[in-house]
Amino acid sequence: MSYLMALDQGTSSSRSIIFDLHGNIVASAQQEFRQIFPQPGWVEHDAMEIWQSQLATSNAVLAKSAISASQIAAIGITNQRETTVVWNRKTGIPINNAIVWQDRRTAAYCEQLHALGHAKLIEQKTGLILDPYFSATKLKWILDHVPDARALAERGELAFGTVDTWLAWQLSEGRLHVSDVSNASRTMLWNIHLACWDEELLALFQIPKAMLPEVHPSSHRFGETKLFGTAIPLAGIAGDQQAALFGQACFKPGMAKNTYGTGCFMLLHTGTQCASSNNGLISTAACQIDQHAQYALEGSVFIGGAVVQWLRDGLKAIQNSTDVEDMAASVPDSGGVVFVPSFTGLGAPYWVPSAKGAILGLTRGSTVAHIARAALESIAFQSTALLQAMNRDAATPITELRVDGGASANNLLLQFQANLLGIPVLRPKVTETTALGAAYLAGLAVGVYQSLEECAQQWQEERRFLPTMSRDQALGLMQEWEIAVGRVR
Ligand code: G3P
Repeated sequence: MSYLMALDQGTSSSRSIIFDLHGNIVASAQQEFRQIFPQPGWVEHDAMEIWQSQLATSNAVLAKSAISASQIAAIGITNQRETTVVWNRKTGIPINNAIVWQDRRTAAYCEQLHALGHAKLIEQKTGLILDPYFSATKLKWILDHVPDARALAERGELAFGTVDTWLAWQLSEGRLHVSDVSNASRTMLWNIHLACWDEELLALFQIPKAMLPEVHPSSHRFGETKLFGTAIPLAGIAGDQQAALFGQACFKPGMAKNTYGTGCFMLLHTGTQCASSNNGLISTAACQIDQHAQYALEGSVFIGGAVVQWLRDGLKAIQNSTDVEDMAASVPDSGGVVFVPSFTGLGAPYWVPSAKGAILGLTRGSTVAHIARAALESIAFQSTALLQAMNRDAATPITELRVDGGASANNLLLQFQANLLGIPVLRPKVTETTALGAAYLAGLAVGVYQSLEECAQQWQEERRFLPTMSRDQALGLMQEWEIAVGRVR
């Protein structure tokens, strides 16, 4: 029997999952790691901790499953995107903490670039909206602020990578400096149309080309790791949201998924067509299995499930994240409370880096249960704003939405989501679609799967949430949401 192992390196935790070839989870292991907040608006990770926690979970899942490394046909990596790591090629030691995708320290620099009129060119070349979210300005910040960094980078002594690149480097003990198109397309340095690092953007952001990784399709034999006692091919790499689109078997134009993780990310497959948005979405490379580029439109919400984490750790309103569903269900509605959780600015479709969070509509009758309900609802409101934007962009409206990620276990949330969207919301049997996507990519590259259809056939629906609210009521609620968003802008 052979198996596939996915390394799913997320914002809040590192996880490793072993799948059988039918796409069933055999075993998984997870480890949280430190979130570092040196200043308001700054978010960092220790890249060594990322690696060590990832390696620990890979060893743990092998031990737990009693599957030997020689039975693993291939490894796929999927990762939090945009997070920026720079390390010394000789020592393998990072020169700074990783700057996380949520970090807003380059907001003022982005404003300057906007004022100088660079946004249009950046959007045309990369498909992205000029925002601190993406890697380019984070990388520039490191080169400008870490002593000697720029000189070392110009001499080719430093390597840059998103988290996939960093893990591949570690897994290969420094032999591989690689990435895939889905991750490269989040750096704001990658020309999404020509599929190459863009010289003009490298010059604009003053990034030496010598520090950039080689980029390949997402399903590709990148190399191998010998860290588990035998050589295992490293054969899949994809950013977590594109991997989830793949794991949801959304292979055709018009198919869409929403992942409820730390953030919320809705992706609509647009096929070999790089569709652009007039409604605040970005164009991104989807997973690529051969020489043919695939694209998606994406809406990225920065705080999704993380609002529940805040209820637990910040407000101390619940003990465990799973308690939120019962607490929210203890009241019939939010009692007029609207929660805009823009703790790290507003992402799509609004794009306001400086926005702060707000809880509005409080009365003397408001309780913590109303706030919990409003927090859950905020996840669905933000996702609905994304789908509305996608429908405005797309020729044909989206007819159903596949969902996954931690918070997709929450039935109350998904029912409210279906009510707001007015279309069916489909939860698959395997909701670990991010990891599954990485496993499929690796499996396709080593030939354990022959075609996309084989993977698509494994997708199974677990539950379908149908809208039960009138369209008038749903649109009325969305209007109230947009008014609340207007207050934090
Ligand atoms: O773009 C950021 C995204 O990749 C983070 O995903 O799953 O860690 O919330 P997640």
